[in-house]
Amino acid sequence: MAKLASIGSILTISCLLLFTQDVYARKQVPVAEKENLFLRDIFLGKEKIVKIHLYVQDLRVGHPNATVFEVATSSITNTSPYSFGSIHVLDDLITEEPDINSRPLGRVQGLTTNADLSTFGIHLNLNFYFTVGKLAGSTLSILGRNQILDDQREFPVVGGSGIFRFTRGYAIQTSYPMDPAVANYGVLEYTIYATYDSKLGESDVVEIAQM
Ligand SMILES: *[C@@H]1O[C@H](CO)[C@@H](O)[C@H](O)[C@H]1NC(C)=O
Repeated sequence: MAKLASIGSILTISCLLLFTQDVYARKQVPVAEKENLFLRDIFLGKEKIVKIHLYVQDLRVGHPNATVFEVATSSITNTSPYSFGSIHVLDDLITEEPDINSRPLGRVQGLTTNADLSTFGIHLNLNFYFTVGKLAGSTLSILGRNQILDDQREFPVVGGSGIFRFTRGYAIQTSYPMDPAVANYGVLEYTIYATYDSKLGESDVVEIAQM
């Protein structure tokens, strides 16, 4: 009997030790390990696609509330018909509707460079910084060539942060028709398709309004 009792207590102690180790292990999961689980989701094809439809309020130099400013020019900017070498920095408001007073979604910040000698071809380098819903705090980075005389312009989504880690996708930009009497003010319409962490939604395409 004594022998059985001691085997029993050894088993109990072993179980306690195992249990303790398990709790310890769970508490000590390093950050890199958590990242691996996230990456596993991505590479198992559990990504979803979000459709983000938004408007950018482009208040250019000369507008009383301007958010776009020229910061550099080249030696030929003034004589180039396409303002070659002109660089602008912008911090434009993003809204849900074309109206500047509609729901604000965040800001788009970055640089545009007139980088084509023979037409209006603008090099874009933009970060979309979102401030609403499940997108709050996440960014999407867009890079590309903006041939502004085209009806539609397409840019690659090259990366992101927050729910957009490892994202890929594309953005379509069009110019929203404006009253020509209003100077130095344009509204750009964007439709962006981008992959994101699957844990945020069930359907294959989630619209920003559902977030
Ligand atoms: C500039 O911003 C102010 C404050 O939001 C606003 O009242 C005013 O109408 C704006 N001006 C123009 C020309 O849009």
